[in-house]
Amino acid sequence: MSLLQAEGLTKKFSGLTAVDDVSLTVADKEFFGVVGPNGAGKTTLFSLIAGEVTPTHGRIIFDGTDITGWSADKVASVGLVRTFQLMRPFESMTVLDNVAIASHQRFRSRSEARRHALAVIERVQLERYVNAPSASLPTAGLKRLELARALALEPKLLLLDEVLAGLVPTERAPMIELLRELHADGLTVMFIEHIMAAVLALSERLLVMHEGVELALGDPHKVTQDRAVVEAYLGEDYA
Ligand SMILES: Nc1ncnc2c1ncn2[C@@H]1O[C@H](COP(=O)(O)OP(=O)(O)O)[C@@H](O)[C@H]1O
Ligand SMILES: [Mg+2]
Repeated sequence: MSLLQAEGLTKKFSGLTAVDDVSLTVADKEFFGVVGPNGAGKTTLFSLIAGEVTPTHGRIIFDGTDITGWSADKVASVGLVRTFQLMRPFESMTVLDNVAIASHQRFRSRSEARRHALAVIERVQLERYVNAPSASLPTAGLKRLELARALALEPKLLLLDEVLAGLVPTERAPMIELLRELHADGLTVMFIEHIMAAVLALSERLLVMHEGVELALGDPHKVTQDRAVVEAYLGEDYA
């Protein structure tokens, strides 16, 4: 059984159809990539799945339950968690406290929440910043903190929206490696990414969106050879 099933997802904002009849499934433990030009509807697709935006049409089934119309908090409580393109930690708080706030939603006792937060911080290799204020982290550290806050919620499915954006190439490789490790540990991931090397290194299946619709869906190496995908997104230079 697939972990996530989206059927005919559509979102209209007044005159504009941001997501237009998109259907997809994500299997348990799969790494599923989403690409497409700016404005293609990728972030809106994630907002629909995560319960931040209500679909105009369509259904979302997660782990066997119809979650269409559920609030983002309720969706997160059953294990469907997203990160944001914009990083928003509490800047004056330490890295540990920021992660502990998230893990407190899973662990009632303060000490357990803290212990869990520490384990997650270690998992994303932020140990040396554990007691530093979040505002003091470099960009790469903020990205890891964002990931840690999401992981602290113990997601079954993690939605990552451009986690590599803003990183210089030398910072990207270790982040890609971390994502690969999390996936190898059994995490199911859907990620939106512009950097094709990362998309091809990580994705097991790939959805290409354009103007709200599915342009292609399937094996990443096949999909990126697709004529329509090259024309609408990748460009002739890529081919
Ligand atoms: N809350 C909103 N209200 C109105 N239009 C929106 C809203 N969110 C996104 N859009 C529009 O929907 C389209 C898709 O946006 P988005 O999902 O952010 O694309 P992507 O993430 O692929 O760049 C864009 O034209 C964008 O301007
Ligand atoms: Mg976006």
